[in-house]
Amino acid sequence: MKPFIAANWKLHKLPSELGMWVEELKTALKSVDMERLELALCAPYTHLPALRQALEGSPIKLGAQDVSAHAEGAYTGEVAAPMLKDLGVYYVIVGHSERRAHHHEDDALVRAKVAAVHEAGLVPILCVGETLAEREAGQAEAVVLRQLGAALEGVTLEADTLVVAYEPVWAIGTGKTATDEDAQAMCRTVRGKLKELTPAAGDVRILYGGSMKGSNAAGLLAQPDISGGLIGSASLSAASLVEIAAAC
Ligand code: PGA
Repeated sequence: MKPFIAANWKLHKLPSELGMWVEELKTALKSVDMERLELALCAPYTHLPALRQALEGSPIKLGAQDVSAHAEGAYTGEVAAPMLKDLGVYYVIVGHSERRAHHHEDDALVRAKVAAVHEAGLVPILCVGETLAEREAGQAEAVVLRQLGAALEGVTLEADTLVVAYEPVWAIGTGKTATDEDAQAMCRTVRGKLKELTPAAGDVRILYGGSMKGSNAAGLLAQPDISGGLIGSASLSAASLVEIAAAC
């Protein structure tokens, strides 16, 4: 499996800005061998049609940042996985810590969303990670294993139908990054758990996320169980995203 860099734009950018931004990205990516890695842009729902158009002919994949647990029905305001599929989306971030914290998403809802994404033939980027308090209480591993086990309960896994992102909550958007060793240790734990669930676990891509940027990407990406990154702040500028891609 190729290393995988996924940009998580969160609640940033306007649809009308995308054409120019993608041109900038394409120009900057000329210095990177795109055969060596996979790149996806996870954008707000409103941006997806324009982004799809701007990315036409490029190997960069389209991603969403969330999804409804329901495929259709009377759920005002929701966006369903088949709708995303119809727009050309390939990846869907599920269970991001900001959704768990600000939108009360619990393990059961995250599991239902993983199932909805699979049902539509899309690939979830399942986020797991502990808070600072949980790490300081020595519970980091237990929390991550609980989140992972709950989200994947009853799920049939293939290496190419799941991406896991280990994102320690205290490192997200804070400028604090887990050390290469700590990130590797947790990603190895995640891989161990995946191995219990599927023989294909060796090939499931496990991303690190949390203040990854050009200056720290190479060390993190060199770890044996880290297969890429989920990038927030540093993905907003084409130049800094390409710096990370170049470190793959
Ligand atoms: P960050 O965000 O790179 O800004 O820390 C990562 C994420 O939340 O996915």
